[in-house]
Amino acid sequence: MRLDIISIFPEYFAPLDVSLIGKARERGTLDVRVHQLRDWAYDVHRTVDDTPYGGGPGMVMKPEVWGEAIDAVIGASAVPGGARGGGHVQGSDEDEGRDGGEARATPQASAPGSVLPQPVAPGADAPGTVEPGTVEPGTVEPAGVEPGTGASATVASGTPVLPRMIVPTPSGRPFSQELAQELAQEPWLLFACGRYEGIDSRVMEDYSGRLRVDEVSIGDYVLAGGEVAVLVMVEAIGRLLPGVLGNAQSVVDDSFAPGSMENLVEGPVYTKPPVWRGHEVPAVLLSGHHGNVARWRRDEAIRRTVRNRPELAAALDPAKLDKHDRKLLDELSFRVRRKDVAN
Ligand code: ADE
Repeated sequence: MRLDIISIFPEYFAPLDVSLIGKARERGTLDVRVHQLRDWAYDVHRTVDDTPYGGGPGMVMKPEVWGEAIDAVIGASAVPGGARGGGHVQGSDEDEGRDGGEARATPQASAPGSVLPQPVAPGADAPGTVEPGTVEPGTVEPAGVEPGTGASATVASGTPVLPRMIVPTPSGRPFSQELAQELAQEPWLLFACGRYEGIDSRVMEDYSGRLRVDEVSIGDYVLAGGEVAVLVMVEAIGRLLPGVLGNAQSVVDDSFAPGSMENLVEGPVYTKPPVWRGHEVPAVLLSGHHGNVARWRRDEAIRRTVRNRPELAAALDPAKLDKHDRKLLDELSFRVRRKDVAN
């Protein structure tokens, strides 16, 4: 999977070098390219924001800068009417006015500092030297295809591949395990990190005509910008990619995972020693009886969901509950009827 991230703080993404995601990048399962938005701002101060129309506090991110950045990252052929978007004509006076009239350097996708060495998949561009705007549509590895396996990277007959664009914002649709699974199927994601009061809405409007654009929130609180939200989403999506987790079963057993864990959170877990500070591991886990262990785990998941997430418990699908589940829910005095629960 290819991930492009555009931000004014590429340094935020240093954690993508470590742990599971770092390894997935080294292996080439994940091709992460971080871009500095300011590379597409051409005034002396590399301005990316301006005051909001209609007044009010804060600043709004300028559409022109975002338009140039996204056009460059998704590739010139994806831009209606030619190589440049946003109504800007290459070689115009405006261009000459920039940077003292010097020819515009093509911004580079970069590893922020030295912390994000870009893994080189065989046949891929060298680390940190991917030129935005030179992305060849149709050459993205489809999800699940390991680079370098000899499988053709071309997706669908002549259909240009474009990324699905994700804009983190507290006003977006909620991020969930289900959405993470959906996004993990995509060959290419482009994250556009807003700061300040957000990105001029016309950017999302404009790209909605060409790309699938989702504004996504990771929770009902306001962060200083989209970067941390993108880290959260990339980790949730990345661990679902084939081969990223050592044990594929853990994805199935995850809290919220579609299937038997839908609308359930996981129960408690234990490891050795069997007794620690007088606290014993539940005997059933030491019994070696797989059926009893599975039942116990499900009971604990139900108990915890009722206690910590009653709104999820209310959304349990009665058709997917067995007799034992229903009995337990009754004991917990929880009636699994949606209409009983206020939204
Ligand atoms: N940017 C600021 N707050 C956010 C949130 N809760 N989710 C996603 N992006 C954000």
